[in-house]
Amino acid sequence: MIQATFLGHAAVQLSDGSTTILIDPFISGNPQATVKADELMPDFIVITHGHADHLGDTVAIAKRTGATCITTFELANWLGSQGCAAHPMGIGGSFDFPFGWIKFTIAHHSAGGGELADSYMGTAAGVLIRFGGKLIYHAGDTALTYDMKLIAERFKVDLAFFPIGSNFTMDVDDAVRAVEFVKPRTVVPLHYNTWPPIEADPEDFASKVNNAGHSKAVIMAPNDSIDV
Ligand code: NI
Ligand code: MN
Repeated sequence: MIQATFLGHAAVQLSDGSTTILIDPFISGNPQATVKADELMPDFIVITHGHADHLGDTVAIAKRTGATCITTFELANWLGSQGCAAHPMGIGGSFDFPFGWIKFTIAHHSAGGGELADSYMGTAAGVLIRFGGKLIYHAGDTALTYDMKLIAERFKVDLAFFPIGSNFTMDVDDAVRAVEFVKPRTVVPLHYNTWPPIEADPEDFASKVNNAGHSKAVIMAPNDSIDV
């Protein structure tokens, strides 16, 4: 069994009781975060792209804990230059880690980062994580893309995290279509109501998904956990 905890905005923690994986640990300065970055003890940190609301506290957490950062090539190299352990990957590539398997997926988005928020940092991605016999899909920041159908053709996703806040990513109705494409057992909306440009109604998303009947939507408040 995997416990998935929402840490606010797009940050998620996955744990099987022995290994802990953090995804997009934007904690300091995150208006939704209820934990402190220095309380987190991950073994691995997965970063979908270099924007500050995803890269977040990665460098400080990775240096303190020795966690390995798993991300796209350019961002992994930059994290290495900052003194972090990093494993670079490319979109479409997969790799077997001690805890399970990771595959990066297409995300239609940009990916600056580093000291200058807009310095080139490779490409934005989503990620599939097979962990504890479950398959978790964190879509990162992305537009709706027809390529999401390819995921459902090959994999059964147990838990998906989709952005719904619009402005930078899918809005509610695009995210509902993404759920139709991917057909996860459970889907959790992310990346909304953190700041005014990404206001969205998670109840609207949840009712549309639940009415469609192929997936179950769960709205998580920061620090809520669900068992997968
Ligand atoms: Ni972004
Ligand atoms: Mn973002």
